[in-house]
Amino acid sequence: MFEVLQPSPPDKILALMAAFREDERAGKIDLGVGVYKDAQGVTPIMGAVKAAEARLHQAQTTKTYVGPAGDKDFAAAMGDLVLAGAVPSERLRGCQAPGGSGALRVLAELIARAKPGAKVWVSDPTWPNHGPILAACRLEVEVYPYFDPASGGLRFDEMMAALGKANAGDVVLLHGCCHNPTGADLDIDQWGEVAKLFSQRGLVPFVDIAYQGFGGGLDEDAAGVRALAGELPELLIAASCSKNFAVYRERVGAAMIVACDAAQADATFSQMLSIARANYSMPPDHGAALVRDVLADAGLRTEWEAELKATRERMIALRGGLAEALRRQSNSDRFDFLARQRGMFSQLGLTRDEIIRLREEFAIYAVEDSRINIAGLPDDRLDEVAKAICAVIGG
Ligand code: LMR
Repeated sequence: MFEVLQPSPPDKILALMAAFREDERAGKIDLGVGVYKDAQGVTPIMGAVKAAEARLHQAQTTKTYVGPAGDKDFAAAMGDLVLAGAVPSERLRGCQAPGGSGALRVLAELIARAKPGAKVWVSDPTWPNHGPILAACRLEVEVYPYFDPASGGLRFDEMMAALGKANAGDVVLLHGCCHNPTGADLDIDQWGEVAKLFSQRGLVPFVDIAYQGFGGGLDEDAAGVRALAGELPELLIAASCSKNFAVYRERVGAAMIVACDAAQADATFSQMLSIARANYSMPPDHGAALVRDVLADAGLRTEWEAELKATRERMIALRGGLAEALRRQSNSDRFDFLARQRGMFSQLGLTRDEIIRLREEFAIYAVEDSRINIAGLPDDRLDEVAKAICAVIGG
């Protein structure tokens, strides 16, 4: 049967990760896949997570099954972290999922069960795995205008005009904060306008929040999703702990829904659990147990929040540093937007050929859509990176 299969085109982010690993040049710089790196170029395990792990190692007495919903205390803690009481708890349900991608998949399948072939609007551009996840659930993907490469800001009016023409029941995928790949986010007034439009037109928000705490702070980064939750009858949320707890390979995420009342929330949740059962049966326990314990223990939580703040501040400093180096090297303000944006990613606005030259001539790896991972920048080589960028753009 396999003879009919052709090789699948590689995922561009994962392919870049593999190419970087194979590159033997000393001093190569990885601005590709979205993992945080500290000043030493290491993706560290957070101190609070390590402490929780040591405690768990001692305290855990069984490895028996947890069930398709995963750990209930983890799910409740994630509901609090993201929504902080923005909706009454009887309307909110959540389950553990294998990473943010797992949560997206559970929720995409849920949409397909509720409305087969539903239209899901995604931002132009969006994370390259959104399309495949939605397509795997046979949902129709439509694009709404979002990013303006010329200004490094949003095409907000065009976005609202496009979504103003969407049909009632259409789903709209929004990035909760730290938009991937552009780093350009809605401000709180714009979130309010989005909530109003969705309410008027009967649109259903599907929020992917994978970087809470990486932009302005834990509460600031969730302000948008909380504004939607306060205004709308239904909401889907995929939350990832990969980045803000740095537990990437443990695969920790939460799939959450807000329904209009408790009975609909219960029925919807039972569908989510049956989707989980039919996919992976039950989510992996270890990483979620660590997140649960960090969030539940006052001391560990304080430690984690301090580490998260340091992570965020380092990325903000790197943004400022790179923008400044590029201003000097290019003698222009073309890249000033880097300092205004937030989170792990920005798009430099270089062509595909220029990005390939960066990789081939300077061993600097960026995604071909010109996305760079800010956290991959070595603090002491910002001038060198800026010089290379200016060399490939001929500046
Ligand atoms: C990224 O966008 O680089 C990360 O979310 C990692 C991934 O799975 O693509």
